[in-house]
Amino acid sequence: VFGFDLNESQDSLQYDDEQEGIEDKVVIKFSHVVAENTPKGRAVRQFASLVHERTDGEIKVEIYPNGTLYNDQNEYDALINGHIQMIAPATSKLTERFPKWQVLDLPFAFPTYQAVEEAYEGTIGQTLIDQLGPKVKGITFWYNGYKQVTSSEEPMILPSDFNQTHLRIMPSPVIESQFHALGASTSQMPFNKTYSNLEVDFINGQENTLSNIYSKNLYKEQDYLTISNHGYLGYAVLMNDEFWSELSNEHQAIISQSIEETTDWIKRHSIEINDAHLRQIKRDDSLEVYYLTKEQRALWKEAVQPVYQVTEPIAGELLMEEVYRLQE
Ligand code: LMR
Repeated sequence: VFGFDLNESQDSLQYDDEQEGIEDKVVIKFSHVVAENTPKGRAVRQFASLVHERTDGEIKVEIYPNGTLYNDQNEYDALINGHIQMIAPATSKLTERFPKWQVLDLPFAFPTYQAVEEAYEGTIGQTLIDQLGPKVKGITFWYNGYKQVTSSEEPMILPSDFNQTHLRIMPSPVIESQFHALGASTSQMPFNKTYSNLEVDFINGQENTLSNIYSKNLYKEQDYLTISNHGYLGYAVLMNDEFWSELSNEHQAIISQSIEETTDWIKRHSIEINDAHLRQIKRDDSLEVYYLTKEQRALWKEAVQPVYQVTEPIAGELLMEEVYRLQE
């Protein structure tokens, strides 16, 4: 319906590259952990083809999806050390290095897409980018979607339903406190270990966007999906700073322009990709989908309030004021 091929093969990644062999070709290795038919997977490909086209093949963006080159635990160090030149981790994965980034993980903090956009493109986004050290160039934020909860045994509808659940989480103190406040226990693990840990019942639930739940088959190991929209998952697009500063002005301009267009693209399309993936998930009759009511959402919200108290001193007044303003 939207013109998305949900099962694109990786073949289309290969360029018909007659420039191969030119010595001064610049290579950007872009490593990420998600599938290619997701908002991020598609955005990286779009960025790669724009750059390729506009530099007549002088810059080649080599894409390593699904954590095949580096995973979410080691991609940041690989970027700093110059083994790869670009990554786009979920913002949650920067929170341990840069604690103020925790503000983006606050549950129910950004209730509308408009609020997410204002957070990324306004004071919050700029303040967070300024936190990154000198080795990393923070380029922009990319969009994915709101997180939902999947579970086995029982659906997560009331906070008390979380009591017996053990959930996979990203490494983020706020996400950990969020689920502890709801009564669940948690284990941090890489994204691409989630499916196998559901399969062996080490965990019995997890939170993620619909596109990640669909493209990694997480729903197939689960009995329930709760549409909770309790937090937003998006990305920080990062480049090795030294690599950036050594690029010619012309190449820098092409990269900046291509990133800007790709950011517009992912902002416009991330919602419909997630919607399309929800429709795919719903075709599986063995999974029940629940939508939280306003009242149930209010109970979740109340239960996670302590997370705000812990995060406030870490995030600081400026960012917290923005969070509260965006909730109005
Ligand atoms: C996750 O680890 O669940 C996500 O960060 C994966 C991603 O990059 O969307």
